[in-house]
Amino acid sequence: MKNIVVLVSGGGTNLQALIDAQKSGLIQNGRITCVISSKEGVYALERAKNNGIKTRTIVRKEYADVVAYSQAILDALLEEQADLVVYAGFMTILDELVVRALPNKMMNVHPALIPSFCGKGYYGLRVHEEALKKGVKLTGATVHFVTEVCDGGPIILQKAVAVQEDDTPEILQRRVMEQAEWQILPQAVALFCDDKLEVRNDRVYIKN
Ligand code: GAR
Repeated sequence: MKNIVVLVSGGGTNLQALIDAQKSGLIQNGRITCVISSKEGVYALERAKNNGIKTRTIVRKEYADVVAYSQAILDALLEEQADLVVYAGFMTILDELVVRALPNKMMNVHPALIPSFCGKGYYGLRVHEEALKKGVKLTGATVHFVTEVCDGGPIILQKAVAVQEDDTPEILQRRVMEQAEWQILPQAVALFCDDKLEVRNDRVYIKN
């Protein structure tokens, strides 16, 4: 059984999708043992507490710089004996010391089809605003392993979602969550926990 630690900063709907997937049996070989938030008072923490999951809050502004903050996050992940770390709407970029300590053990869900609308500055609603500005007809979501390159790690799963002409960023965000993120994030976590993901030459292969 793998220990899954989920990093959050907001509402936690992706965390909820993981909790639901654990309950429904989609995720069988892992359990969410801890939720770590970069912000106090966010609803993701309530979701964890409502489901009896341990929470920790590690606030960025309480640390002198990104390295000190990243070290505190890494210490927590090691204390929790994390086998898998999931960024589920975690909005703080960490120093590479974290990912170097846990290679191919951290995954992120991004609300676009990488390599579109990704990288530094592309997070949350911003991603959907830019997709609408560009006029793309398809967008979607990507789950990928975290590396030292922001949104640049090996891609695990992607799902496309149609853009409608009258979409607002909020409407599009919701559709991408419902039709893509909440499906592919639990699927990717289940594949990881079942030891079905193999990374070779910066690509992910899914074993049968
Ligand atoms: C999700 O859409 C997630 O993909 C995005 O933030 C939202 C968090 O929602 N993450 C990023 O933009 C990371 N670059 P949630 O707190 O309800 O899961």
